Amino acid sequence: MSETILNITNLVKDYKTGFSGKKTRVLKNVSFDVYKGEVFGFVGPNGAGKTTTFKSILGFVTPTEGKIELLGKDHSDSGAKGRIGYLPENPYFYDYLTGEELLYYMGELHGLKRKYLHEKIEELLRKVSMEHAKKVQMRKYSKGMLQRIGIAQALVNDPEFIILDEPMSGLDPIGRREIKDLILEEKRKGKTILLSSHMLSDVEALCDRVGIIMEGTVIKIGNIGELLKEIHTDYEMHLEGPGDEVKQCVKDLRVEMDSRAGYIVLKFDEDIKRMVLEAVTRTSAEIVSIHPLRKSLEGLFVEEAKKGNPQKEQ
Ligand SMILES: Nc1ncnc2c1ncn2[C@@H]1O[C@H](COP(=O)(O)OP(=O)(O)OP(=O)(O)O)[C@@H](O)[C@H]1O
Ligand SMILES: [Mg+2]
Repeated sequence: MSETILNITNLVKDYKTGFSGKKTRVLKNVSFDVYKGEVFGFVGPNGAGKTTTFKSILGFVTPTEGKIELLGKDHSDSGAKGRIGYLPENPYFYDYLTGEELLYYMGELHGLKRKYLHEKIEELLRKVSMEHAKKVQMRKYSKGMLQRIGIAQALVNDPEFIILDEPMSGLDPIGRREIKDLILEEKRKGKTILLSSHMLSDVEALCDRVGIIMEGTVIKIGNIGELLKEIHTDYEMHLEGPGDEVKQCVKDLRVEMDSRAGYIVLKFDEDIKRMVLEAVTRTSAEIVSIHPLRKSLEGLFVEEAKKGNPQKEQ
């Protein structure tokens, strides 16, 4: 087992809400570990508690209960904080600073010398494709530009552990690609990354392990491959032949029937795969192909959301 970079045990956070000051529990015994060198994805619907967890790690939010260890020390240890980089969810920086000034400012806060910073900042601006706007005040930046400069500032101290809250948000497809490459480059350098994202396809492409949080509770943690194995697979079958006959033979089965590019297309759950095959072979139609539809984290996410709230429509 590799070194543990982050260890969260039974983290609880209550917020006081409304005039009555009634407490709402937004984190309910959240526990998970992040290991050295991995990219860990923290996913969950809006309001699930991802940002609150990140802010607790960084000490911006005081946990009601629980323990957080960062780089082998209690998270309140300032030594540990200097070794991490953080991209907040809505990076609102100092409007009247230029992007370059922000990077110098953040670097100096980390105690880095201007001489060292000069090269580092040039390199970072190049990496996030922001050299052209380095002299522009951030109040004139677009959402995507703020996101890029936000990522650059998270890396200015060459952190061992990088926490990115929605790093892909506000980026166009090219920007997302660039940021994905940048995250993978940090991973190759041996860095550890914890990120949250609603772009589940990005999470799937980037992360070694994921944690799924719903309504303040971590409901699953695991290797993406293992989690995806748990999802039901749908199958798609392409047929050539008389549509009426096929329709008749599958009428008692839960099968979606459609036609595409001259083929009859049947879509069904893996539980009834054998039954569909048997039924179809009794017709004069010819099976052209049968293949599993790609499983995705999105599917797992939707299934879990339905389990949590069975009334919820898909
Ligand atoms: N300062 C606060 N005071 C009271 N409630 C808060 C506060 N900050 C967050 N909350 C509540 O805590 C819950 C979790 O919020 P959080 O921002 O952690 O969710 P999230 O998973 O990051 O959501 P999103 O995907 O929308 O970013 C929400 O119900 C939110 O309304
Ligand atoms: Mg959030």
